[in-house]
Amino acid sequence: MNRRTALLAAALTLTTGLALTACGSSDSAPKLQVDDAYMPQPISSMAAGFMTVKNTGDTADKLTSVTSDLSDDVTIHETVGNKMQEVKSLDIPANGELKLASGGNHLMFMGLKKKPAEGDKVTVELHFATSKPVKVEIPVKASTFDPKKK
Ligand code: CU
Repeated sequence: MNRRTALLAAALTLTTGLALTACGSSDSAPKLQVDDAYMPQPISSMAAGFMTVKNTGDTADKLTSVTSDLSDDVTIHETVGNKMQEVKSLDIPANGELKLASGGNHLMFMGLKKKPAEGDKVTVELHFATSKPVKVEIPVKASTFDPKKK
């Protein structure tokens, strides 16, 4: 094989490889599922929401916004040290999960339209960068509820 043929062969291999990758990616999308959602019964005019967003797909996604019947002002917060701050989005890694948990990332509901009590359900719609919106019924738990002590 002379040098030119070798280069050509390499180029062909490369093209085939790319074609396979493109083909394989056609059905890869984030596959999201929401688990363990809860809201501690609010003790003031704000409330927090927690849940785990699982992604069994091969593509990452992002939680970008949240709407709810409970509040017109729902934001996404992360906790840094013992301070929370609003973020534009939170990553949901491919074949991974985004955890919203007490002391960490959470949803923040301000200016509650009503005060939900333990046993109520709060409807939220999660919006993502790639996936279609997902509706979640968040059960309201006692204000002291700790999911680790199930
Ligand atoms: Cu917050």
